[in-house]
Amino acid sequence: MRARAVLDAATVEPLLAAAVAAPSIHNTQPWRFRVDPDSQVLEVHSMPGRTLPLTDPTHRAQYLSVGAAVFNLRLAAVHLGRRAEVRLLPDPHQPGLLAAVRLTDPLGMDEEHLDRGLHEAIARRHTSRMPFTGRPVPEPVVAEMAAAAQAAAARLHIPDIAGTRRLLRLTAAAEARNHAHPARTAETLAWINAPGANTPYGIPLTALGPSDAGRRIPMRDFTGPLRLVPRPAVWFERHVQLALLWTPHDRRDDWLRAGQALQYVLLTATAHGLRTSLLHQAMEWPDLRAATAPPHHKRCHPQMLIRFGYGPDGTGTPRGPGLPAPAAG
Ligand SMILES: Cc1cc2nc3c(=O)[nH]c(=O)nc-3n(C[C@H](O)[C@H](O)[C@H](O)COP(=O)(O)O)c2cc1C
Repeated sequence: MRARAVLDAATVEPLLAAAVAAPSIHNTQPWRFRVDPDSQVLEVHSMPGRTLPLTDPTHRAQYLSVGAAVFNLRLAAVHLGRRAEVRLLPDPHQPGLLAAVRLTDPLGMDEEHLDRGLHEAIARRHTSRMPFTGRPVPEPVVAEMAAAAQAAAARLHIPDIAGTRRLLRLTAAAEARNHAHPARTAETLAWINAPGANTPYGIPLTALGPSDAGRRIPMRDFTGPLRLVPRPAVWFERHVQLALLWTPHDRRDDWLRAGQALQYVLLTATAHGLRTSLLHQAMEWPDLRAATAPPHHKRCHPQMLIRFGYGPDGTGTPRGPGLPAPAAG
């Protein structure tokens, strides 16, 4: 039996710092953490108040976000020389308890490979909503991103030119629906922060990118038709490089796995000097989400559309401390 590591403050601090650096929908950071003093298990809970009832009624995007944080936790544990045993949805009586992480010592052989540049990429990864250069990403790097998804029980589909156009069309259709939906626009806008806003949650106006003058890439317009801020139009890359992350099943634990896979892919890309941004709009409308599935794939549940390439870094967004969850019971 493996020795159980004690979760003292010196151990927990770097774990949480890594966890909260994960991407989350609208930077809602929908997680809370708690150390169970008896079992020395680090619990990852969802944060009930930080949901998006219209955009994410099933909480799928929330689970993806928490899954990404769990992957960072695992990497931080490996960086400390510890093996992280993760149980997803460990207690049916506590639906808000999404993962339980137990550190053991020493590091398992199977996880040593995880730290190769990936831990360092956690702090460097930012969503970049800027135009990329269009320089093609070498095939071996794309293959490594696909292998990362697969290692986390998901799959990465790299579309050809026609497939890329189809995915962009579906995303544009979703973006148009979001625009035409005042309540959704208001929900999104509530997570956009004006300059000087004193909150570590939500997206600062400065992190929002321009729109594509060529109208090829439907980057999400977080401020909607209200046009509270001018959104300059600039030319984005002509050859858009996309990857569709999907899972063979679509249950709550699959969403948590998809989030881990997403973060594994994003950090692999970051470690190779790539920038990434996410185009999630089509995933928020069931018919459009289903339509993004690659043809000829049975049992394929699309989870995220990832844009990748070379270009300027994102500006980064603030983070909250990852507040402790209340004790169970
Ligand atoms: C499930 C999910 C959906 C997201 N959807 C979008 C999106 O549609 N458009 C976008 O620009 N960013 C999207 N993001 C990125 C978040 O806005 C971003 O992660 C958050 O603001 C934190 O910023 P950072 O990634 O730079 O750390 C999404 C992130 C997640 C996890």
